[in-house]
Amino acid sequence: MGEKGTVCVTGAGGYVASWLVKQLLSEGYNVHGTVRVPQNDKNAHLKKLEKASENLKLFKVDLLDYNSLSAAITGCDGVFHVACPVPFGSVTNPEARIPRDGTYLQNHLFARHLVLALTSEPVELVEPAVKGTLNVLKACSEANVKRVVVVSSAAAVLLSPDWPKGQVKDESCWSDKEYCRRTNHSFVPVFSFIRTDFPGSLSKNWYCLSKTEAESEAIEFAKVSGLDVVAVCPSLVLGPMLQPTVNSSSLVLIKLLKEGYEELENRLRNIVDARDVAEALLLAYEKPEAKGRYICTAHTIRLQDLVDILRRLYPNYNYPKKFTEVNEGEGLTEGLSSEKLQELGWSYRPLEETLVDSIEGYGEAGLLD
Ligand SMILES: NC(=O)c1ccc[n+]([C@@H]2O[C@H](COP(=O)([O-])OP(=O)(O)OC[C@H]3O[C@@H](n4cnc5c(N)ncnc54)[C@H](OP(=O)(O)O)[C@@H]3O)[C@@H](O)[C@H]2O)c1
Repeated sequence: MGEKGTVCVTGAGGYVASWLVKQLLSEGYNVHGTVRVPQNDKNAHLKKLEKASENLKLFKVDLLDYNSLSAAITGCDGVFHVACPVPFGSVTNPEARIPRDGTYLQNHLFARHLVLALTSEPVELVEPAVKGTLNVLKACSEANVKRVVVVSSAAAVLLSPDWPKGQVKDESCWSDKEYCRRTNHSFVPVFSFIRTDFPGSLSKNWYCLSKTEAESEAIEFAKVSGLDVVAVCPSLVLGPMLQPTVNSSSLVLIKLLKEGYEELENRLRNIVDARDVAEALLLAYEKPEAKGRYICTAHTIRLQDLVDILRRLYPNYNYPKKFTEVNEGEGLTEGLSSEKLQELGWSYRPLEETLVDSIEGYGEAGLLD
């Protein structure tokens, strides 16, 4: 039995969550990991983690199934809510709508406004993100969980066109929901390299909207209920994968190495290593003084400069042929600051280490052949 108590990690088999589960097990926690299909091969790596046989228990959970979530969370001291759809390509179910009479919202006035606002928008992303988060928080409240760490995203920070020009973005900066609805810029950290891959169904910033709505709902829930909620907002997460299936952000780097794009926009990118994100999540959970939201990013770099580093390290891949300079738009060129997280004791590894470890891992997995 883990000596540090029991915590739940939602979406345990995913990219970021797998690193977190590994870290928690090695630190002596007992972990309840939620997965949608426990017997699926894509979750097999979890059972091979050190101490998993004694201290990891998997629960079959869908974020939209409250009872399944509640069963995994009951008995936990803390919860890390990591699960969320992070699609790479187009949304396949853009016509689905959030039901107006969703029972999960019956006692939550703020969320009811949200439902009304979203009833005409794609929910393949939005519903699991927002309703899933509210389900997790409600189950945490009922189970008297001491702290919930919600994984949000830099996507909930970055799309803020009114932010003062030239000022680095900090935790007071929120993505503008109306701007997300209106625009089709691919400023989403995960999708941002490869705009041309996204046909009309993902032409609005639905992912940014879903993460912004989910995080702001979580903070509102905390205010109303008194639940201790801390949010962590990572930028584009790279680094080696523990899981056997390729996740969206890793695919971004794989495609950059393999695809031979004719032309890409030379946009500013914010990058962080998955192992450093796991560390940040643990700090956000363990440090009593942690409060509010934390931007979690390490390196800000132009895409062309990133490709120059990759080319120097690995000259023989099929890199983009040309970069075009773009006007990023007002308030969208500023860097992101993780100063608040660093004050909590967080540090990060060099970019080259992240890139080398990622590419070596992709190579071993046969993903670059
Ligand atoms: N990767 C990045 O660059 C990045 C950057 C910022 C923030 N984030 C955030 O980090 C978190 C993890 O992302 P990731 O990159 O690790 O993605 P990932 O590997 O695709 O993991 C997402 C996980 O969410 C689970 N999930 C999705 N919908 C679900 C539902 N309805 N019920 C239960 N589980 C569901 C998936 O389960 P299945 O395996 O069953 O599909 C998967 O385990 C997300 O909250 C994401 O928004 C990621």
